[in-house]
Amino acid sequence: AGRKITVIGSINMDLVTSTNQIPKVGETVLGQSFHTIPGGKGANQAVAAARLGGDVTMIGAVGDDSFGNTLVNHLTNQGINTENIMKVKDTSTGIASIIVSEGDNSIIVVSGANSHITPEVIEKNEDKIFDSYILLVQLEIPLESVMRAVELAKKHGVLTILNPAPIQKLPNELIEMVDYLTPNEHEQALLFASLEGTEQELEKLKEKCIVTKGSKGVMIYKNGGKIEIPSIRVEAVDTTGAGDSFNGALAFSLCEGAEIEEACRFANVVGAISVTKLGAQSGMPTKKEVKEFLQIHKME
Ligand code: RIB
Ligand code: NA
Repeated sequence: AGRKITVIGSINMDLVTSTNQIPKVGETVLGQSFHTIPGGKGANQAVAAARLGGDVTMIGAVGDDSFGNTLVNHLTNQGINTENIMKVKDTSTGIASIIVSEGDNSIIVVSGANSHITPEVIEKNEDKIFDSYILLVQLEIPLESVMRAVELAKKHGVLTILNPAPIQKLPNELIEMVDYLTPNEHEQALLFASLEGTEQELEKLKEKCIVTKGSKGVMIYKNGGKIEIPSIRVEAVDTTGAGDSFNGALAFSLCEGAEIEEACRFANVVGAISVTKLGAQSGMPTKKEVKEFLQIHKME
């Protein structure tokens, strides 16, 4: 078997409303369409890696409602190991209420079962972390659980990627422990404004960042300098989950043995392809689809 990826994070049902006009407070507008689509940053990243052919285990939680069953079945159908997803009694599955308008989105997340992933739950899954080559985490589960997961990964020499989204104030220890951070520009600015340390110390931590910049591409730090990876021009239908596609693809590519710059270039392409369809996971490509895309765009 190849190298394994463990994703610990959120599982949501996305309630996606497309509208030409975003209502102001107190206003009612007629929208264009409504879809329920599997989402959640954790699940999205797991699916992105699995579609590409990654060996992925998802650790998370759903409620005891119909969304929960649908989402776990969906992840299983994507070839993801779902044995360690808990079902929490008398709790709703996480949801995200998403408004898509002209390719942009606004999102309200209600965590529900995702907030039940405690540090104890993480500890019960230590063997899964130990078994993996990469641990991929985000910030849609309690922060102390993210901390515990990264601690256990470090203890076992497992490579860690933290996607700091949605952004919040983070302890220095967490940033010191992780191998890679994948903020967007906005998240990077907020994160580093809130960290403690001398300019030199913060500069050192910054070098762990792989900064996703949407239509401006990706930036990485290398040998004291910066490398800009240009974006791929596509018709954006829905940018929801573009960052998740990037993260899942990055983990996959690193598992395949790519070095970091190459892995970022690959993930950049996967992120671009993913925005061409409505829904976070809908546009995530298989390895074959990435190949075809690269041929069509004469990028090989
Ligand atoms: O990153 C996109 C995801 O954020 C959506 O799928 C939604 O569930 C929110 O968690
Ligand atoms: Na999409």
